[in-house]
Amino acid sequence: MRFTDTLPTPSAEALAHSAQLAERIRIAIIANGGSIPFREFMRMALYEPGLGYYVAGSRKIGKDGDFITAPEISPLFSQCLANQCAQVLTELGGGDVLELGAGSGIMAADMLARLEALHCLPERYLILDLSPELRDRQRQTLQRHVPHLLARVEWLERLPETPLRGVIVGNEVLDAMPVELFTLVDGDRVIRQVEIQGDGFDLVPVEGHYTSEFNPNLPGWMRSMADSLAAGVLLLIDYGYEQADYYRPDRTQGTLICHYQHRVHDNPLIYPGLQDITASVDFTAVAHAGLDVGFTLGGYTTQAAFLASNALETLFIDALQTNPADQYKLAQQIRTLSLPSEMGERFKVIGLNKGVAFTWQGFALASQQHRL
Ligand SMILES: C[S@@+](CC[C@H](N)C(=O)[O-])C[C@H]1O[C@@H](n2cnc3c(N)ncnc32)[C@H](O)[C@@H]1O
Repeated sequence: MRFTDTLPTPSAEALAHSAQLAERIRIAIIANGGSIPFREFMRMALYEPGLGYYVAGSRKIGKDGDFITAPEISPLFSQCLANQCAQVLTELGGGDVLELGAGSGIMAADMLARLEALHCLPERYLILDLSPELRDRQRQTLQRHVPHLLARVEWLERLPETPLRGVIVGNEVLDAMPVELFTLVDGDRVIRQVEIQGDGFDLVPVEGHYTSEFNPNLPGWMRSMADSLAAGVLLLIDYGYEQADYYRPDRTQGTLICHYQHRVHDNPLIYPGLQDITASVDFTAVAHAGLDVGFTLGGYTTQAAFLASNALETLFIDALQTNPADQYKLAQQIRTLSLPSEMGERFKVIGLNKGVAFTWQGFALASQQHRL
């Protein structure tokens, strides 16, 4: 049985789309003398204009997509983030929220609704995504949930030229950035290359027993975050580890995984454009990249601790009072967001400050920055 036989079969239309992207990757490989670095393969697979996984039309996030994210699981997640944003906006005396990679738009809708209830609406809620096709879907979601707040929402093509005061927030954005794949050979990192193999792709073989990855764009991206923020915070939520855990000796195959229609597997070279490719986040590298460009570390902890510190329990009780019939559903949502075996500990939260100092409420219960 071939590996792809274990996955749901893509439609003829999807296969044709993938074949088109594969052809473009083949051309890039030939133009580069027979191979390209894995990070370039991953960039093309996810973001090649018109064809990449995140920029082409199909639905990725949610029950009928390839994977599901915390804001899709429960509004309680976004409400907790809004509680944290309200503290920052109060400290700053007002400001904007900029969401990176806003997915279906549900996090924006739930955060805005909560910020309104707290009488702490941002002046503007800005959205920046590398995926232009999501904009319509985001607008529809906002129109459905918070039509009266739509006028505050602005979609950006690129980071704002005038640095903003407020919060830049991204859920599961870092894990969607292309990574460099390497194998240790006699203690040295050999950057892995992708070559053409028959009608598909393969890694150029090297002799080594430890393969992992890193995000080469992190320092440059963090610099652009610092340049976009006059004063405020950068709040990032993602799955990942501290560096010592990320590169521990027994993690010999790194963290790269692929999602295709709720199946998880580890072959990024198949079905280019049809499947998500993602790597866990090295939060130590994120913290260092932030400190290098002038941020200070506001805190770091697990998703479970961050949500608990931002009044998850109170929000749960409020939701129960409004909708008593949802008791089972809400309890299940809390379990998924918080249990160590679900998202509670695999997902981490890091907060970075620029030009404003305060004690983050989200890191009050269990700060773990000593682990970074
Ligand atoms: C895994 S999805 C998460 C979507 C959403 N935040 C959620 O939680 O459902 C990652 C999103 O981040 C976007 N993205 C990746 N790199 C980005 C960047 N440098 N700036 C803005 N968005 C980015 C992708 O286009 C994609 O829409």
